[in-house]
Amino acid sequence: MNIVAMAARKGGCGKSTLVTHLAVAAIQEGKRVAIVDLDPQATVAEWSDGRGEDPPDVVSSQPARLSRILTSMDGNYDLVLIDTPPTTGEADRVAIEAAHLVLVPTRIQTADITAVLRSVDKAATQAKPTFVIFNDESPLRRKSVADETRTVLAQRGIKVAPQVIHSRIVYGESQDASRTALETDPASLAADEIRALYAWMTQQLN
Ligand SMILES: Nc1ncnc2c1ncn2[C@@H]1O[C@H](COP(=O)(O)OP(=O)(O)OP(=O)(O)O)[C@@H](O)[C@H]1O
Ligand SMILES: [Mg+2]
Repeated sequence: MNIVAMAARKGGCGKSTLVTHLAVAAIQEGKRVAIVDLDPQATVAEWSDGRGEDPPDVVSSQPARLSRILTSMDGNYDLVLIDTPPTTGEADRVAIEAAHLVLVPTRIQTADITAVLRSVDKAATQAKPTFVIFNDESPLRRKSVADETRTVLAQRGIKVAPQVIHSRIVYGESQDASRTALETDPASLAADEIRALYAWMTQQLN
């Protein structure tokens, strides 16, 4: 059972959106998937409520219970994604501790990147493979911005996932409908980039 933590101490950078989309990408590849929602805002748990019995299974939990929950899930799932709140505290620490892979979404903006560095540092102290994901990038902005930022972060020893996730209306609209772009618009550019991100993530886990 692979465990992936989505952690970033920056509100609204796309943690929950990427958790739900990566979960559904895995389901569409035939995987058994669960999400543990450690965020008191319960974004993913509420998303799940609107899905009825459709997978993934979502458990809303508190940091202190995470390891027990993961133990009970072991063997029943191929992939568990952990969503965390933007606040500093126990949640991101225990999620990173439990994870095989840590993903840190961010916009490509100085203030956001500064916050990212703090999250990445935390994962680094726990010696977990950690990657930044550039999210919500304008499709209109020149592509070299992502490349340049990737180079700057590489100089600090920070790795960035190759697939940039762009700002696309379908992410929010599908999420609001308790779905994902993979379900509402499987032929969309959003669905393509999520499938590419998922394929890359799977390689990292192998
Ligand atoms: N790539 C994207 N394109 C368009 N909208 C996006 C994208 N990523 C995120 N959003 C939107 O940005 C908002 C915040 O996203 P999300 O809830 O995933 O962030 P978060 O990091 O989980 O926030 P929080 O820290 O509050 O938990 C949502 O309205 C979501 O639909
Ligand atoms: Mg969230």
